[in-house]
This record gives sequence, C-alpha cells and structure tokens, in this order.
Amino acid sequence: MGIKSFLRNPITKGGNAIRNVRRLGLLGALDLYSYRLREKYRDWRLGIRSSGFHDANDLGHVPECHAYEPIDYRCLDIIFGHLNPDAETDVFLDYGCGKGRAVITAATHPFKRVLGVELSPELSDLGRSNVSRATRKQRLQSTEIEIITANATEYEVPDDVTVIFFFNPFSGSVLAAVQGKIRQSLQRAPRRLRVIYMHPDNHPNEFESCDWLEKPFSLPIGDWEKVQLLAYESRVVAERLQDDVLAGAIES
Ligand SMILES: C[S@@+](CC[C@H](N)C(=O)[O-])C[C@H]1O[C@@H](n2cnc3c(N)ncnc32)[C@H](O)[C@@H]1O
Repeated sequence: MGIKSFLRNPITKGGNAIRNVRRLGLLGALDLYSYRLREKYRDWRLGIRSSGFHDANDLGHVPECHAYEPIDYRCLDIIFGHLNPDAETDVFLDYGCGKGRAVITAATHPFKRVLGVELSPELSDLGRSNVSRATRKQRLQSTEIEIITANATEYEVPDDVTVIFFFNPFSGSVLAAVQGKIRQSLQRAPRRLRVIYMHPDNHPNEFESCDWLEKPFSLPIGDWEKVQLLAYESRVVAERLQDDVLAGAIES
C-alpha cells in the first residue's frame, strides 16, 4: 500500500491495516508494510511499476507455467553482488521476465546486453514500457535491453548468453524443454555459463539432474524467505561436449 493510496482511501486501507495486524501480529504487519514501502521506493528509483500478482489462470497459462510475482529487490541485490558482470562479455537472460524488474535491475549493472523472455503479451508489453521509463529516468549501465514475447520452450538461446536467471517461472516438462535448449546452446558454443535458480523450499530442485552443470553454490538469503537461491556454473569442458558429438548423443 502506497502512502498516496492510503490517503486517498484511509477507511478501507485503515481497515486492511487492522486486518493485517490481526492476521500477522503487530511485528508481522510492520514487516509487511516496510517490505511494501521498500519495494515501492526501489520501483520509484528505477521509474517503473513492477509490483502486483497476476494469477497463472488469468494469464491463460497451462498448469506448468507459473503466475507473475516479481522477485524481491533484496534478492536481486544478493544476486548481482555475486555475479560481478563483465561489460565486455556478460549477457543476462531472464526466463519469464514479467514486467521486467530483474531485466531492468540487471541493466543497472555492466552487462553487455540484457534479455527477457515472457509468455504473456500483456506482461511483456508492461515490461517494455518499464524499460522505456527506466531508460528515460536514469542512465543505465547496459543500454541494449530487449524483452521478447515468446514461450520459453520455443526460444533459441543466443550463443553469447552467459547468465541465465530463473525465478520460479515454470516447472516439469516446460522447464525440461528449456534446459534442453540451454544445453544445445552450450553444445554449439561451449562457454562459461552461470544459471541462477530460485525455487520455493517446498518444491524439488529441478536442476539436480542436469549433469552439464557443476554442483551449485547456495547464495545466502538469510531467514526472511522460504526459498532456495542456487548459483550453478556450466561444466565448460569442450572435449566432453565434443565427445558427445562423436558419440552422436546430441539431441537435434
Ligand atoms: C514468478 S514470475 C517471475 C518474474 C520476473 N522474472 C521477476 O523476477 O521479477 C514468473 C513469470 O514467468 C512467466 N512464464 C510462465 N511460463 C512461461 C513460459 N513458458 N515462457 C515464458 N514465460 C513464462 C509468467 O508469465 C511470469 O511472468
């Protein structure tokens, strides 16, 4: 709840506040409001509107494709602190970029270019408007930013992508198909590729069986979220990939 909207309708919003205190306790409610204020402030600084929840059914998604919910800015700070990108070589790709929060935050860091793929035309339009607003509001470090409206399963991974981000966009056969696309890109162009994968604690890690990735490093996010934040690196062993080619093991 923003201060403006609270002032516009103090009785309902005040009623919500009382309900939240009853539901979460005073400390829980204070925590919720400080989180919302922080999120609004970070959106304002970038000049964008990326908050809100969009149900997967309302977006017309099949069950394995998930809802829109933006990643917490605190997680993005941890992720980009860890990535330390190189402006000459690093290309960032967000699968299921929604309204573009992670894409635009990536562009405040020195990436060579930044990409987002989003299934929902409505959300990707909002993402592109946010990119325009952010570009007008401030000097971004990466100016080559593109949001593509596509089903991730049909999107060919550009062979210069070096960082791929997943904030719980899809699962099951959809994720497996996307993992296959990433592996194909690595086979075409063996390189160092980092995968940042964030998934809820109570969901299985669906990257565990990817033998083309090294064992992950768990990024510390404290106890304020029930999620796992894992950083993977590709096994850049050109010989091994070459062996796969010779053994005819590459999926077409
Ligand atoms: C949890 S949100 C993540 C939003 C954004 N990455 C962020 O971190 O703020 C998941 C997004 O994935 C999108 N999505 C779901 N299935 C998809 C698919 N098959 N291809 C592309 N995007 C998809 C949803 O529409 C939603 O916007």
